[in-house]
Amino acid sequence: MIKKIDTILTKDKMSRDDLIYLLKLTSRDDIQYLYDRAYAVKEQYVGKVAYYRGLIEFSNKCRKNCLYCGIRRDNKRAIRFDMTRDEILQMAYFAYENQYGSVTLQSGERTDEKFIDYVEKLIWEIKRITKGELGITLSLGEQDKNAYQRWFNAGAHRYLLRIETSNPTLYGKLHPQDDNHSWQKRVDCLRELGKIGYQVGTGVMIGSPGQTIEDLADDILFYEKIDADMIGMGPYIVHHDTPLGQTVMQANNYDKHQHMELSLKMIAITRLYLKDVNIAATTALQALNPVGRELGLKAGANILMPVLTVSQHRSKYMLYDNKPCIDDNAAQCRDCLAGRIAGIGETIGYAKWGDAKHYFKKNAAIFKTK
Ligand code: 5AD
Ligand code: SF4
Repeated sequence: MIKKIDTILTKDKMSRDDLIYLLKLTSRDDIQYLYDRAYAVKEQYVGKVAYYRGLIEFSNKCRKNCLYCGIRRDNKRAIRFDMTRDEILQMAYFAYENQYGSVTLQSGERTDEKFIDYVEKLIWEIKRITKGELGITLSLGEQDKNAYQRWFNAGAHRYLLRIETSNPTLYGKLHPQDDNHSWQKRVDCLRELGKIGYQVGTGVMIGSPGQTIEDLADDILFYEKIDADMIGMGPYIVHHDTPLGQTVMQANNYDKHQHMELSLKMIAITRLYLKDVNIAATTALQALNPVGRELGLKAGANILMPVLTVSQHRSKYMLYDNKPCIDDNAAQCRDCLAGRIAGIGETIGYAKWGDAKHYFKKNAAIFKTK
């Protein structure tokens, strides 16, 4: 008799109910089978190559107040920092010299002209010192069209903006209820980024309080609807100095194992459903399991983000508790990750941008006419 899981996995297109069925799998064997099938799809569509995005978390100052995040504006215990321009440039140059291929510039959200101008010049300068060879991804939150365009013109070509959840009601529970935290605004930003020509990345927090399996299935459908090129998602993890973290700690019902498993299932099912996108094995996976990122790669992810942030600031960029790698420096992260990737029989896409195949496929018609 053909098993239901096989019937689903041989379909050209899975339905919402199929996604829900897969997310609810409980048998060890079935879950492993799901990961293996996702790995085969990854091999077929994007290869067994892990691409790097050296992560530069250059400031933890943020105008937002997301209820789950350790660097939210109202967390007075967070020690605020800005990396200097020179430090950022040095880190970018380290990525270039070590053939990382790309960097991701990430910070809390700021929308003032001084910041926009600073980032714009920084992008130009990184491009200049790396002879235009280093790819630049930005993860700098919601901005107006003009700022996105200026940064694109300066040379950034990918942008990450997580939707956090595709369910607007749940979004409302994870964020303060004000104009500064609008689900619709985030969707509008994602569309704007795509129009400008960025490769667009989005993602969700998995296992946030109040989230259902149905929400997660809808998240995958949302990725398709928004036509995302890149997916970055990871488990929700408690931060003790946040309103949400404190509620979860009081309820005492956070299950690390469950969060890990659900995160890996999400990676696998997203790979099976979307096929040719880039999917990150995020650092948050490693916060729950020492080999979390390797497990992410084995479940279908193909992107890693080695941390470049200078050692003295790492412990201050604390989005959640127990963030790994905070005592390491960039060279240690480089060597550690290389070992981990070799350990699972994959190669590293050195000196390559590793753009999402999906982006080129959807733009094939445009590129042909250029
Ligand atoms: N647990 C997991 N991920 C978090 N982020 C922020 N706070 C947490 C947390 N407590 C993630 C959000 C955000 C990204 C920068 O970090 O998804 O988009
Ligand atoms: Fe700021 Fe992002 Fe944290 Fe929200 S999740 S508070 S926008 S850094």
